[in-house]
Amino acid sequence: MEERVYTLIKNRNNPRSKLFAHRVIDWQQRHGRHGLPWQGADVYRVWLSEIMLQQTQVVTVIPYYLRFVARFPTIAVLASDSEDAVLAHWSGLGYYSRARNLHRTAQLIMQRYEGKFPQHFEDILALPGIGRSTAAAISAFAFHERCAILDGNVKRLLARYHAIEGYTGEKKIEAQLWQQAEALLPKRNVAVYTQGLMDLGALICTRSKPQCPICPLQTDCAAYQNELVTQLPTPRPRKVLPEKHSTFLLLLNGPDILLEKRPGSGIWGGLWCPPHVDPGLLNEAQDPRAYCLQYFGTETIHTLALSTFTHTFTHFKLHITPLLLQVINKPKQIQEAGMAWLNVDDALQAAIPTPVRKLLQEIQTRRRAL
Ligand code: ADE
Repeated sequence: MEERVYTLIKNRNNPRSKLFAHRVIDWQQRHGRHGLPWQGADVYRVWLSEIMLQQTQVVTVIPYYLRFVARFPTIAVLASDSEDAVLAHWSGLGYYSRARNLHRTAQLIMQRYEGKFPQHFEDILALPGIGRSTAAAISAFAFHERCAILDGNVKRLLARYHAIEGYTGEKKIEAQLWQQAEALLPKRNVAVYTQGLMDLGALICTRSKPQCPICPLQTDCAAYQNELVTQLPTPRPRKVLPEKHSTFLLLLNGPDILLEKRPGSGIWGGLWCPPHVDPGLLNEAQDPRAYCLQYFGTETIHTLALSTFTHTFTHFKLHITPLLLQVINKPKQIQEAGMAWLNVDDALQAAIPTPVRKLLQEIQTRRRAL
C-alpha cells in the first residue's frame, strides 16, 4: 500500500498532538532510517523483524534476520521445520522463548488461518509472543492500521516529552504513557509516524547523551524546557538480582562433546548445553568423576577447571564454573533422549546459547594450541 506523502502545514493553531505527529513524520522522512531489510516487506517479515527487535538493537538483528529469512522464507516453511532448526538460527540472539513462540505461532497460523497472517489487531494480539506494542507495530507497518506503539524507547521519549515522573514499568505510569501514545497518533501516515518514533527513540532521544539540539520535538519537550532530560525517565528502582551457581561438565571424547537439550520451559529452553550440576550436589558426591560415572556411564579423567564466569539473565545472575573432563570409555549409546555426543564443530552450528558458544570456541582454541 502506498503511503500518502504528508505535507507539513505550519499552523500555530494546530493542536499540540497534530504538531507532534507532523514533526515526527517530517523528521522521519528527512533523517530517519530507510532501507532496513524489513521495511516495506510482507507481513511475515514485518512480524519476524518486530519479534527479533524486542530487546535487541537493529545492528545486531540485521544479520540474524537475513539468515533467518533465507532459511525460512515463508510462514509455511517456518511451520514445517523443526523447533531445533529454528533455535539454531536464533542461537546468540537471546530470549529464546521468542523463537519458540515464533515457531508455534507459524504452526498456529497454518492451522487456524490457512497460512495467512491475520490482519486484525485483536487477532494479532492474541497470537503467542505478541504484546500490545508489537501487535500495533505489525498492524501499522504491514496494514497501515492506526495503532499506537509503546516500546522501551517510546516510553522514554514520551516520559521526557510530557515530563512524566515515575518508573515507566510501573502500571500506573505505563497506563498514562499509553494514553499519551494514543492521543498523539496522527490520522494518516501511521507507518512513517511509527518508524519516526522508533528512530527518534533509538537515534536522538537516547538514554544517555540525548541529542536534544537536533531533536525536532525540542521546542515543546517538557523535559528539555525544564532541564529535566537527564533525570527522566525515572530509573527503575534498584533490585539486587538473586545469584545462582552452576557447574558445567564439559565431557570431551576426541572431537566430541556431550550436550543435552534443555527442557522446553525455563532458561535456555530447547537449547543444547553441557550437562550441568548444582555445585552443592557435586560437593556431596565429592568427585565430579563419580557423578559422571553414575549419570552418564562414562569413566573420566578430571582434567581442568576453567575460570568461573557470570551470565546475567533478566531475573538472576548465573555463575558458571566449567569443568573439563576427558572421557576414557564413551558409552556406545547415550540412553537418555535429548543427550548427544556432538562434534564440537557441529555443536557450534546447533541451537546453543552464547556462553556455551564461547566455551566451545575456547575448547577449539586449546586444542589448536596442543
Ligand atoms: N525497533 C522495533 N521495531 C523496529 C523497527 N521496525 N525498525 C527499527 N527499530 C525497531
